[in-house]
Amino acid sequence: MSGNPYQDDHGNHDASITNRSGGGHMDSAPGSAAKMHTGDAFLIGDSMTGGYGKTGPDILHNCTIAVNKGEIAVIVGPNGAGKSTAMKATFGMLNLRQGAVRLDGEDITDLSPQDRVVKGMGFVPQTSNIFTSMTVEENLEMGAFIRRDDYRDTMAQVYDLFPILKEKRRQAAGELSGGQRQQVAVGRALMTQPKVLLLDEPTAGVSPIVMDELFDRIIEVARTGISILMVEQNARQALEIADKGYVLVQGANAHTGTGKDLLADPEVRQSFLGG
Ligand SMILES: Nc1ncnc2c1ncn2[C@@H]1O[C@H](COP(=O)(O)OP(=O)(O)O)[C@@H](O)[C@H]1O
Ligand SMILES: [Mg+2]
Repeated sequence: MSGNPYQDDHGNHDASITNRSGGGHMDSAPGSAAKMHTGDAFLIGDSMTGGYGKTGPDILHNCTIAVNKGEIAVIVGPNGAGKSTAMKATFGMLNLRQGAVRLDGEDITDLSPQDRVVKGMGFVPQTSNIFTSMTVEENLEMGAFIRRDDYRDTMAQVYDLFPILKEKRRQAAGELSGGQRQQVAVGRALMTQPKVLLLDEPTAGVSPIVMDELFDRIIEVARTGISILMVEQNARQALEIADKGYVLVQGANAHTGTGKDLLADPEVRQSFLGG
């Protein structure tokens, strides 16, 4: 099978679905201190402090999350820790009182979410991430809203990545299973050819088998050079595929390391991974 950048990991990384200038390579230095630097990461929410509205209390406290080119960074932590808030802040849906967001070295702190999409960010929120009364294909078309060029190739690539969506393209998205809906949501976000994809709990409410499948697809997307910043409840499984992991507690960074490091950390295991 050819022509699908997501399923080609045999050398010819023709990542035509990706925005080429965002393409990266895997940095293989697991565990090295250098890898933990966020200063030169592709996307950084740097030392973010802020909450909802103008007068709401701070939810994030000096919180930093980042992802390198073509890598997978995973954010875990208890319910209410501020994981979704950190994602929203990075996407520009929160007024930060302190801190900055930088994409590929550019300060984008003052940009609207829509302008961030133009810059190469894709966001799949935790809830309400598809249009249930529209067909699968209409959802993908909605995803392409900022594009003025021909997006049919991108749609074909999304269908190659998620073949079930092609089969069900004329069906209302609301009729699909949980795992298939999440595929629609991710596919919709891919339609803008993002350089970095923010996924808030992409495997929420799906079976372990479907979770594994979704993770496999997410790895394929990362291999095309798209950075993945992902919140996950399935902490152990997510850290297994993570280049980098963040444990957030009460809006602040509690632990940061490679996925491997965090999985091996006794305190992280005890407190967040069930021993
Ligand atoms: N839209 C909102 N308005 C006000 N407070 C909110 C809103 N969304 C979340 N919060 C609050 O922010 C805190 C963190 O929530 P959230 O980021 O959703 O946590 P997590 O995703 O880690 O479960 C919680 O105390 C929650 O009540
Ligand atoms: Mg959340």
